[in-house]
Amino acid sequence: MCSLSNKRIIVGVTGGIAAYKSAEIVRRLQDRGAEVRVVMTPGAEEFLRPLTMQALSGHPVHVGLLDEKAEAGMGHIELARWADLLLIAPASADFMATMMHGKADSLLAAVYLATPALVAVAPAMNQGMWQHPANLDNVEKLAQRGVTIIGPDSGSQACGDTGPGRMEQPDTIIDQASAMFINGLLQGTKVVITAGPTREALDPVRYISNHSSGKMGYALATAAADAGADVVLISGPVNLPTPERCQHIPVISANEMLLAALESAQKADVFIATAAVADYRAASVAEGKIKSSDEVLTIKLEKNPDIVSTVASTNESLFVVGFAAESANVENYAKGKLKTKSLNAIIANDISRPDIGFNSDENEVSWIDDDSTISFSKRSKAQLGRDLIAQIACKYNDQN
Ligand code: C5P
Repeated sequence: MCSLSNKRIIVGVTGGIAAYKSAEIVRRLQDRGAEVRVVMTPGAEEFLRPLTMQALSGHPVHVGLLDEKAEAGMGHIELARWADLLLIAPASADFMATMMHGKADSLLAAVYLATPALVAVAPAMNQGMWQHPANLDNVEKLAQRGVTIIGPDSGSQACGDTGPGRMEQPDTIIDQASAMFINGLLQGTKVVITAGPTREALDPVRYISNHSSGKMGYALATAAADAGADVVLISGPVNLPTPERCQHIPVISANEMLLAALESAQKADVFIATAAVADYRAASVAEGKIKSSDEVLTIKLEKNPDIVSTVASTNESLFVVGFAAESANVENYAKGKLKTKSLNAIIANDISRPDIGFNSDENEVSWIDDDSTISFSKRSKAQLGRDLIAQIACKYNDQN
């Protein structure tokens, strides 16, 4: 049974008799650790009450595009960005035609168009409808656009017919949806990631640090493990659970992080530096607690080692990716760091924006390497982690 811990899933329900099974899908997704929100089309409401889904998911159910109550909780664009996966089950013939044509005539259709998340549909309809060339054509085009088609199952149908078109069983749908998070993009590679802040002690109780939450690095570690890599996550102190299938090396200071990074990088293929390393540390750490009696306290600081450039310069075949958090002239400064730190690529983000970056659950970045600049619009850090790992895999595999 695949875990879905920390995965954010929108269950989209469209009109059809199989809608009653969506309630079971929501329950079972939650049992596997997913966080679930529900969006229903007006047609789905004829078969299933939103209240049932609200009680199960623990959140208001989104139905109409102009539903003020639901929008007050989480607006539909916000919802589209929040998700890691949009799972539409059941997906009617009509709704798949809507998706195929890019129409935004319902909330669910708008969420589908707006989301950068993975998308899966579990079709459910009469066997004649399923086998109609217009429907099969739509399904094929959706698959070509990257939508995962789960099922349908074949057998006796609610209408009395027998044939293909029955919605897959909830467990099969969930197994296939979980498998979407696993890909072999970095199979056989070893990836080392630094994450979180470092803490530089001033005395036994005080330290210098920063606001890094570690969320971006942890999302990259999860995505790299899902991509089949052997992952070492070297992390400063954060408040996050260790991602599954990752080797976690906890560190406190920049010097500890450097030692762990140099050691792990020797056998690595890819090194990703997301850590917000403190630039300076105390020249000497006071043995006892520094007294607060003086009006002015002067502390002498000395520069910390640059971890990513030390690792890059001592491991020439390593594919090294850095991050540049900038508040002005983002692209120019990032390009400068790409050169001075000897990186293969740098991921730049604008920390002057309060809605992304440090501590936020979302981020918007640009990928910069010698050949290209690629923008990744605002999305959840989990989704961005997957997209950046796909980009890293693409560039790394090109060079090897
Ligand atoms: O110089 P700046 O801190 O902006 O560089 C950011 C990049 O360098 C990030 O990838 C960060 O993890 C890395 N870095 C490092 N060691 C330092 C400072 C930054 O690895 N001492």
